[in-house]
Amino acid sequence: MSDERMPPINDELLYSVEPYKIKVVEPLRATTLIERKVAIETAGYNPILLRAEDVFIDLLTDSGTGAMSDRQWAGMMLGDEAYAGSKNFYHLQATVREHYGYRHIVPTHQGRGAEHILSQMLIKPGDYVPGNMYFPSTRLHQELAGGTFVDVIVDGSYDPANSMPFKGNVDLAKFDALIARVGAERIPYISLAATVNMAGGQPISMANLRAVRELADAHGIRVVLDAARAVENAYFIQQREDGHRHKRVADILLAMCALTDASTMSGKKDALVNIGGWLAVNDDALYEQASNLALAYEGLHTYGGLAGRDMEAMALGIRESVQEEHIHARVRQVEYLGEKLRERGIPIVEPVGGHAVYLDARRFLPHIEQTEFPAHRLAVELYMEAGIRSVERGILSAGRNAQTGEHNPAALELVRLAIPRRVYTQSHLDLVALAIERVYRRRETLRGLKLVHEPNHLRFFQARFELL
Ligand code: F0G
Repeated sequence: MSDERMPPINDELLYSVEPYKIKVVEPLRATTLIERKVAIETAGYNPILLRAEDVFIDLLTDSGTGAMSDRQWAGMMLGDEAYAGSKNFYHLQATVREHYGYRHIVPTHQGRGAEHILSQMLIKPGDYVPGNMYFPSTRLHQELAGGTFVDVIVDGSYDPANSMPFKGNVDLAKFDALIARVGAERIPYISLAATVNMAGGQPISMANLRAVRELADAHGIRVVLDAARAVENAYFIQQREDGHRHKRVADILLAMCALTDASTMSGKKDALVNIGGWLAVNDDALYEQASNLALAYEGLHTYGGLAGRDMEAMALGIRESVQEEHIHARVRQVEYLGEKLRERGIPIVEPVGGHAVYLDARRFLPHIEQTEFPAHRLAVELYMEAGIRSVERGILSAGRNAQTGEHNPAALELVRLAIPRRVYTQSHLDLVALAIERVYRRRETLRGLKLVHEPNHLRFFQARFELL
């Protein structure tokens, strides 16, 4: 019997509901405030150094933390563990060709394995690699190969309150100016992230991607895509860019990739696996070189550091990742947390990104100097408040300049609340919003942090602090 007075449930609402039910659960352990204080002190006030079992809601990353489907788990039993030519490799290759469109793939253990091979192949000492904002592992591999990263993202990306729809776009004038300054022959490729993690999970538009392609073509520069969250980017193009509203996300993804020459992929994000990645290229000679380098650093070119079962799970994960109802619910869940925080007046990066909500620590804790790590301090406090783990994306992540020894400048001082895929429910996110509100109310009482141990590379992972 239908109730005539009730409006029909619209597609929008149905799409926002999780398109799955829960078959396996993993218990969470609630901790006391005393336990959390001891745990975070032992961890040198670095949430990354906590034991995961002391964390209640883990929003450290959306990388490798997603829940696999029953089909993916079934696929794990179909692992062909032949050393060479596993049938799962051919399944993965066919799936990447179908959904990303590149001709060749080399599996890698994760995204940075692909970044390593790509950087070693294409970058010579003295080269410059422009990109739409840096990502730590990507830039590190560029630097280890002798290159210099140059940020060419649009200025608006540095303003957390600027709600322009494509904050991942390249500023073509900046790209052009770099070409004029150093010469195209010293720019092996432009590195495009979709979405841009460090800008807040912000997308690049199809129009911008096309314009970058044209400028790069005019100078014989390759275009390389960091495809870790390209499906989320494709979803934003569908939702926000003129002329794409009625296209399938899967088709938009293919069109994006078609504008690029190669991609590095962390399968731990969009592709819904706990480990895995790939390097994809169109050029035959580059493939030859990549499969050879893979031998040294990853493994034979038909497994690249992965078991057959991992490649099978990733192939199946790719198919699920481009389903409309999956990607819609995924991004909407992130937006839900953003809405809850916005309602409470908490400063966040606008618009909300595809994989995470970012707190703006400059506005949250304006009284803490950047050299006393306000965003990291906020992440520490969130853990103490409710066992929630998040990560700093600010001056700590930006590292130091190897020449001058100074902190690299960090225009943004953010805390990332990354939402794992298909893992937490709405009530978990309600608790997160409540905990942040409580910290916000007592924000004036917080003081900064002093860095007492600093590793050379990617310091945010292993740095240790004292409370000021
Ligand atoms: N590119 C982007 C945009 C990333 O976000 C990551 C990883 C990588 C490359 C490297 O991939 O971890 O598989 O080696 N990001 C994780 C994060 C670590 O938490 O955002 P990986």
